[in-house]
Amino acid sequence: MKGLILSGGKGTRLYPITFNRAKQLVPVANKPVLFRVIEAIKEAGIDEIGIVIGDTGAEIREAVGSGKRWDVDITYIPQEAPLGLAHAVKISQQFLGDERFVMFLGDNVIQGGISNLIRQFASSNWNSQVVLTAVDQPQHYGVAELDEQGRIKQLVEKPRNPTSNLALVGIYMFDPNVFAAVHAIKPSWRNELEITDAIQWLVENGYAVHPYIHRGWWIDTGKPIDMLEANNRVLAELVHRVDGFVDQDSKIDHLVTVERGAEIINSVIRGPAIIGEDARILNSYVGPFTSIFHHTTVEESEIEHSIVLDHSRIVGVPSRIADSIIGRDVEITYSPIKPKAYKMTLGDHSKVGLL
Ligand code: TTP
Repeated sequence: MKGLILSGGKGTRLYPITFNRAKQLVPVANKPVLFRVIEAIKEAGIDEIGIVIGDTGAEIREAVGSGKRWDVDITYIPQEAPLGLAHAVKISQQFLGDERFVMFLGDNVIQGGISNLIRQFASSNWNSQVVLTAVDQPQHYGVAELDEQGRIKQLVEKPRNPTSNLALVGIYMFDPNVFAAVHAIKPSWRNELEITDAIQWLVENGYAVHPYIHRGWWIDTGKPIDMLEANNRVLAELVHRVDGFVDQDSKIDHLVTVERGAEIINSVIRGPAIIGEDARILNSYVGPFTSIFHHTTVEESEIEHSIVLDHSRIVGVPSRIADSIIGRDVEITYSPIKPKAYKMTLGDHSKVGLL
């Protein structure tokens, strides 16, 4: 089997963080979501992986390289525009050849990996298998209806009156019959070749499409709140360790990871939390569910339930920062210069919540 990861797209819902950067490279518990996806595929025993890339392709190529770090072979497949998930399959035909494959959205995080479902699909003669999970509000998702034999009968995108609570998770398995489907379907109203239409085509043309019900958590990191939720979940399950320096005046608990070269001075850190390489936490409080990425400084400040990317500085901020995603090279500082006012240089699409 081969793996296909979709890492094109625009990531508009995560602007400004993804205004000129790949959504799939935003770190969750200090590791890019895409790296977690590659690890899950490798762990399932697949080592030939294609990555579909778009405008942010150069950054993805630089971060992932040849795949040697994970002992996998990576092939990059440029997509001229985000024309849909089924379009991504279509342009990957040459790479996939006549092998069965798993397709994984590069911005999804799933608990417990995918080894079990790969095993099940590999030992079956099914044409496709689609990962589903029970959700509270099916009207917000692509939903699957099953027939009496438990096979997929119909897929409905955001149904107004859902007849099932089984939503599509961004993981699909196919055999080469999917290429007939992606060539047969037409673009949808949003001008995308939809993967749900391709799967529906397989069902209607007599191919065996089976569900795989995933029972753990799964998060599509499309919006900032989802990114924070994924960060919470992964931090809570991380095996924590301290490789950096923690001075005697600081207090950290057993759910805190301090990466190599990081320094914690006269500060309190309550886990689950992670402090990245060469980061510096000085006279500060870092609360639960916080990921501070590499080379970032937090000084005389308090922060919790947040993600801060690399090379940022949070210094002397008078109120606690919470529920925030802070990008790279950002500075949030206290300014004693009069007049007493918020002084901001914010880029396009920035969002600030003031008290
Ligand atoms: P989406 O989240 O549906 O799209 P997006 O990343 O463009 O986000 P937004 O709606 O905020 O603008 O995409 C899911 C994943 O699939 C994501 O990793 C990007 C990838 N993708 C492609 O590689 N090619 C495509 O044509 C599309 C639509 C998505």
